[in-house]
Amino acid sequence: MRHLLSTKDVTRDEAIALLDIAEDMADVANREVKKLPTLRGKTVVNLFFEDSTRTRVSFEVAAKRLSADVINFSAKGSSISKGESLKDTAQTLAAMGADAVVIRHSASGAPRVLADSGWIDAGIVNAGDGTHEHPTQALLDAFTIRRRLHGSGARGKALDGVTVTLVGDILHSRVARSNIWLLTTLGAAVSLVAPATLLPVSTTGWPVSVSYDLDAAIDSGPDVVMMLRIQAERMNAAFFPNAREYSRQWGLDDERVARLPAASIVMHPGPMNRGLEISANAADSAQSTVLEQVANGVSIRMAVLYQLLSGSAA
Ligand code: NCD
Repeated sequence: MRHLLSTKDVTRDEAIALLDIAEDMADVANREVKKLPTLRGKTVVNLFFEDSTRTRVSFEVAAKRLSADVINFSAKGSSISKGESLKDTAQTLAAMGADAVVIRHSASGAPRVLADSGWIDAGIVNAGDGTHEHPTQALLDAFTIRRRLHGSGARGKALDGVTVTLVGDILHSRVARSNIWLLTTLGAAVSLVAPATLLPVSTTGWPVSVSYDLDAAIDSGPDVVMMLRIQAERMNAAFFPNAREYSRQWGLDDERVARLPAASIVMHPGPMNRGLEISANAADSAQSTVLEQVANGVSIRMAVLYQLLSGSAA
């Protein structure tokens, strides 16, 4: 694997291999010295054109645990705000010897442009591009589901037959898109539940079923309910009447969580709008994997950087 741009490009075997490497990386996190020398001498650049806390920090921790040098380059306070183009930035990073560039950008496709451009000869990792994809989020979600289902015996396994319901702002969600491809590649059955206004005009070609009724979806007892953040910053119109109405119909409130089977898990990529798409009790319940997802994110990003930079890549 040379770049990680979309989970659409990831085969089932590649996905399982990444999850298995992430298991090894998680073992490292439990040691007293949480560091491996694997990427010593390599330089990873975090190129962030959009606000982010957890994803940027997660990539930084991951790179440092593998002993790479990390440079954080954010759009605010950089030459980008002086009008420097993506091309000039890429060429500058190339001249500085970047081996991997982790890019987050508000434009869907920006990581692909960088990978195909020839401006820079580094491994490119998509850390979220517009409403398009966020592959490492989907990988950490798959890893979290697999660990909850199989515990320490998870290695080598896929997610065959697992039922996953994605709820909420599908329209603006790159997390949803990356998860739809990856989870189905791993054998899971994905369904979407959202108001019609927060679904794409067409889901033709998406391997999913679609419904508008959260209560019916909850009563069908899915193994996983993944709540998505209402992405107000990407909304230029009124997509639902008001916040109260949204939570009443599409929010995971206490009563709905109580109706889920005890073994079902509740996920959210963060940052959460508590009280809007998810209640505080649901977010903090034993069924919630929100903090596990954050911890697992480091293991997954270590696995991805390792695959891209260690030279043993397939
Ligand atoms: C997600 C993102 O930025 O796409 N968050 C994240 O990576 N921490 C999801 C979101 O913002 O809702």
